[in-house]
Amino acid sequence: MDNNKFYITTPIYYPSDKLHIGHAYTTTVADSLARWHKFLGKEVRFLTGSDEHGQKIQRIAKERGVTPQEYVDRIVASFKDLWQRLNIEYDDFVRTTEARHQRAVQEVFQRIYDKGDIYKSKYKGWYCTPCETFWVESKLVDGNCPDCGRSVELVEEESYFFKLSKYQDRLLKHIKENPEFIQPESRRNEMVNFIKDGLEDLCVSRTTFDWGVPVPIDDKHVIYVWFDALTNYLTGIGFPDNQELFSKWWPAELHLVGKEIMRFHTIIWPIILLALDLPLPKTVFGHGWLLFDNDKMSKSKGNVVDPIALIDEFGVDPIRYFLLREISFGQDGNFNRTALIERTNADLANDLGNLLNRSLSMLNRYFDGVIPAPKQLEEIDQALVKAANDTVTRMTALIEQLKINEALAVLWQLIGRGNKYIDETAPWALAKDPEKQDRLATVMYCIFELQRITALLLKSFIPETSTKIWQQLGLSEDLDKLLVDAAEWGGLKPGTATQKGDPIFPRIDVKAKQGDTPKPEQAQAEPPAETQGDNLVDISDFAKLELVIARVISAEKHPNADRLLKLKVDIGDSERQIVAGIAKHYHPSELIGKNIVIVANLKPAKLRGEVSEGMLLAASSPDGKLELVTVSEQIAPGSRVK
Ligand code: MSP
Repeated sequence: MDNNKFYITTPIYYPSDKLHIGHAYTTTVADSLARWHKFLGKEVRFLTGSDEHGQKIQRIAKERGVTPQEYVDRIVASFKDLWQRLNIEYDDFVRTTEARHQRAVQEVFQRIYDKGDIYKSKYKGWYCTPCETFWVESKLVDGNCPDCGRSVELVEEESYFFKLSKYQDRLLKHIKENPEFIQPESRRNEMVNFIKDGLEDLCVSRTTFDWGVPVPIDDKHVIYVWFDALTNYLTGIGFPDNQELFSKWWPAELHLVGKEIMRFHTIIWPIILLALDLPLPKTVFGHGWLLFDNDKMSKSKGNVVDPIALIDEFGVDPIRYFLLREISFGQDGNFNRTALIERTNADLANDLGNLLNRSLSMLNRYFDGVIPAPKQLEEIDQALVKAANDTVTRMTALIEQLKINEALAVLWQLIGRGNKYIDETAPWALAKDPEKQDRLATVMYCIFELQRITALLLKSFIPETSTKIWQQLGLSEDLDKLLVDAAEWGGLKPGTATQKGDPIFPRIDVKAKQGDTPKPEQAQAEPPAETQGDNLVDISDFAKLELVIARVISAEKHPNADRLLKLKVDIGDSERQIVAGIAKHYHPSELIGKNIVIVANLKPAKLRGEVSEGMLLAASSPDGKLELVTVSEQIAPGSRVK
């Protein structure tokens, strides 16, 4: 097989309704994989489309009083809008109502008919219209469709049949000899058992409606919608007329589908290909379902999540990142707003966004925003270089195994390491010492080189963010064109003028978005006291408060409370422990090195079992975002605020 090409497909979705976040999930994963393989230097073809024929679509159009074509045209336009909003870069979009597709489907049917593998007979059995699936009575569950649980209809008509049974043993042999063909493994076992139960010949034409591709030899019949739909994978690469394109791309490296349509892709589709004497795709991967609040999404439950509304509200990359990072690929996963917001705040605003923001602020302060040349690398720098180079290798291996969420977790370890590196090297301390200018230059170079590499490694997953980081780093190479070798340490040119911009991910205010987030425990978020009449104090009252500057030495999550952080602060002559209700607003790593203001003579109190020896000051914006009162690093810890 040509290792240097990657042909990937998504299912072609039914335009029976607008697409939801579940469809966006498959397509976002496929898009990221396509981009990643391009980044690896491969030639990539990424195909998607719409499955527009069949009884279901014909019925819906009739209910709405429009022709099927009018109906699908409108919905398919909304598919394309969604893909554009999600930054999906497909190479071709097959609509099954296109002439080129009709040509391909009829050719496939004709070739198999000519071979003697399609014959005419009578069908009597059950049909599930929402799934467009035939069922024999013995497979029904309580008389309903075993897949979706909905009612089935009795169908009795003259049909053409495809000899699935003839190919059963060849298919089993292929599955056995090619363990990568059906993934993940649990689904392979399921499919093998299904085949071993015995395959019935498949009904591949219908006569009771006409919204489909006519059978070439008998135009009373239209071709069964799944036979029609699966052929899209050939249409999209020029079958049957463009032999050059077709032989360049077939077989596909990866058909990505949801687990509920694995049977079609690992039994019917390969048997069509065997009958055509074409090679089988390398892998069919059946991923799990995206649930909403742990429940299956469905229109009747009213819990279908509209991706466009989410993009409007949160922007595209938080959605892409959530889908790729939160769900263990292959297994069912859960979507809900709280999880989306928390993921965005923790990973994108705090870890990634804050790393960029804080390092650009420092670079502006210490080097006028221009990347300095590194000097001697110390052990801690070398460890960072190794971590960055290892990340590329580890991510590549994980993505090869389609462990996308794990690959992103590895990248976020590197980002976390970048934040930690800043805390440990403390550039603000180096900046104070003129003799440590070289060291400061090296540290700043390392911090920015790490972020250049991060932007490259991110571009397949959250391309918009990656571009924003690239711009703020002031890099001039065309990010789109750079390949994985550019992610090797050392590519950042000293002298690059960075361009600090707005934070790439402002924190999402959990309270405003959900209305259910409790307030921080201490009084930091209280509104200012009234400043009239009885509330006026004189200067001696104010003097009773010991407000001092405290430098945060360490910060960690409170062991027993999600909303609290435990800080160690330096107040000049001693250290204090302060427990504060700011965990939803600050990541511990953001706080280290900050000069904050505390009330030092507040009576100590125990908060969830941890002593707090003081209270920090903060203010909150009208939308609930909390910000600590800070002063610059020039002010020594212990200084009194007067
Ligand atoms: N038209 C057929 C596919 C033909 S492919 C030759 C079809 N269409 S569909 O509109 O029902 O899309 C099903 C696919 O959408 C799933 O296999 C999966 O890729 C995606 N998903 C739809 N809902 C989903 C979830 N709730 N979770 C994850 N994926 C989901 O079947």
